[in-house]
Amino acid sequence: MSIEVAVIPAAGRGTRMRPATRVVPKALLTVVDRPAIQYSVEEAARAGAKEAIVVVDLDAGHLIAQHFKLGGSLPGLEDIRVRPVVQEEPLGLGHAVYEAAEMVADRPFFCLLSDNIVRPGQDVLPSLAAGSRDGETSVMCLRELSDEFLSKYGVVIPDSEVSDGYLDLAGAVEKPGPEKAPSRYGLVGRYLFTPDVFSILEKIPPGVGGEIQLTDAINELGSQRRLRGYVAETSLLDVGTPPGLLHASVVLGRSRFEPEVFED
Ligand code: UTP
Repeated sequence: MSIEVAVIPAAGRGTRMRPATRVVPKALLTVVDRPAIQYSVEEAARAGAKEAIVVVDLDAGHLIAQHFKLGGSLPGLEDIRVRPVVQEEPLGLGHAVYEAAEMVADRPFFCLLSDNIVRPGQDVLPSLAAGSRDGETSVMCLRELSDEFLSKYGVVIPDSEVSDGYLDLAGAVEKPGPEKAPSRYGLVGRYLFTPDVFSILEKIPPGVGGEIQLTDAINELGSQRRLRGYVAETSLLDVGTPPGLLHASVVLGRSRFEPEVFED
């Protein structure tokens, strides 16, 4: 199935990257030689998307728009149009995705969390698109998590065994912790949604942390049995924390520069 639009939420507070994020939005922190968010836009373009809707806060909007206005002159971004939409208050990831509803309209769409970057050569979006039966099913990227991370991620409720990397899902729970986790499969920042997720998000009340949780909308899709998971073999690089940003810079830098660059 070909997916022509991607939604990239980038309007979070970025508290774990303070003080840098007091003046520079998290999505614009440099990773090697480009703002973090550019990696997600490039990834969406590689998967065939022609339009990237970036959800930004009031401060970051004009900076991000200015960066991507260069459009065609940025290699890898010749064929994708970047359109910002503002989330006035950081009311949660589900709320951020809902801000893109009007622009996405009735199209299925990729969703990419901009503070997670795929490793070179390890794209997962094509596998999500391949897993959506006749475009009626949303497909979540999953990773098997260790105990520690079961309190930090949304965790899914399996409804089948894994076959060829895919499984059916019956729902999801936000940050359940190891005691209550329904499985070890966590939602890791790459999604393919059918557009009806917007009518679910519209009605979702605030959940964990008082935020409108994307995981609660995913849970509802699961209860309608139109939800699948794809178990990714590699982890994404989390640039939302200082050690994560450092690690991502080294991994991405090593893939581009000669080893001598890293000698003291
Ligand atoms: P996180 O919770 O990981 O990021 O959101 P954060 O809120 O920016 O960071 P901390 O926890 O304060 O350090 C995951 C993704 O969802 C976006 C973020 O920008 C990030 O890409 N997000 C989150 C929004 O766009 N709006 C929100 O209201 C919340």
